[in-house]
Amino acid sequence: MNLPTPEFRPRRLRRSEAVRRAVRETVLEPRNLILPLFACPGTGIAREVPSMPGVFQQSVDTLLETARQAHAARLGGVILFGLPASKDAVGSGAWDEAGPVQEALRRIKRDLPDLLTIADVCMCEYTDHGHCGILEGGHVVNDPSLDLLAKAAISLADAGADIIAPSDMMDGRVAAIRFALDEAGHEEVPILSYAVKYASAFYGPFRDAAGSTPQTGDRKGYQMDPANVREALKEAAEDLAEGADMLMVKPALAYMDVIRAVKELTDRPLAAYNVSGEYAMVKAAARAGWIDERRIVLELLTGLRRAGADLILTYHALEAAAWLAES
Ligand code: PBG
Repeated sequence: MNLPTPEFRPRRLRRSEAVRRAVRETVLEPRNLILPLFACPGTGIAREVPSMPGVFQQSVDTLLETARQAHAARLGGVILFGLPASKDAVGSGAWDEAGPVQEALRRIKRDLPDLLTIADVCMCEYTDHGHCGILEGGHVVNDPSLDLLAKAAISLADAGADIIAPSDMMDGRVAAIRFALDEAGHEEVPILSYAVKYASAFYGPFRDAAGSTPQTGDRKGYQMDPANVREALKEAAEDLAEGADMLMVKPALAYMDVIRAVKELTDRPLAAYNVSGEYAMVKAAARAGWIDERRIVLELLTGLRRAGADLILTYHALEAAAWLAES
């Protein structure tokens, strides 16, 4: 048989690691990765979250050690979440100057001044009902919640946060926070908006980590319907118009098309949040010996970069950075 030989031989550029590396399109570096940290009151505390092996609730002293590792690994930065000593209906712990996140921010600024710190702004970790704003008659009321978010944002910027990242999904919160930050003299502090945040089952383990499960109902009245992408573009455009400096899509893995769509909408830096449930699934399968964790994690993170994420918030950050340093 005289079969035709192929005219184009793409395999020529796959023949060796040297040529593959030379023509590789997408780069994954430690600076693309942001490590989430959970700050709690006390000293000497590092409580592992059962559904998130390798992730800890930490008092400020032990959290600082992890921040040091993030710095040494040359990660892009850290994002801080808080577990307050007590909760109330309006989440007043969110703007407590002595809160664990505020304290952690001050310590990181003092000891590791060039480690980038992002402060998550939301009420769900601080309210006794676990919702992301003020609850009235079972409903999260939008506009009154904006004042609280703005207060929290100012407090976190006062404590030294380099970037403010609202994750609550109230309408108009970027404008409200921008206005409040400017009035407080923080006009140079950027806002990374969780512009596109879906009502997702993938947040389950995080709610254990942050103790932020809603006591009644769910978050579908403010977080987005997973079925929607046109709405994501509208959310993104609105947040840009309100003054967001960077945008985020969350979760990441089931939403790569959304990451790509938002990337094509704007030149602003884009982040993707590789959330707790995504992490837990990889960890569980790796522990069972069913997958090659290192290759899976690097492939997932590279995929998110290829989809359009400049930054990836991920609990894999330290391990991934170590693997990247070896390769
Ligand atoms: C707060 C917030 C959540 C996450 C980040 N910020 C949880 C939620 O909305 O319930 C989830 C992060 C993760 O799952 O890793 N609103």
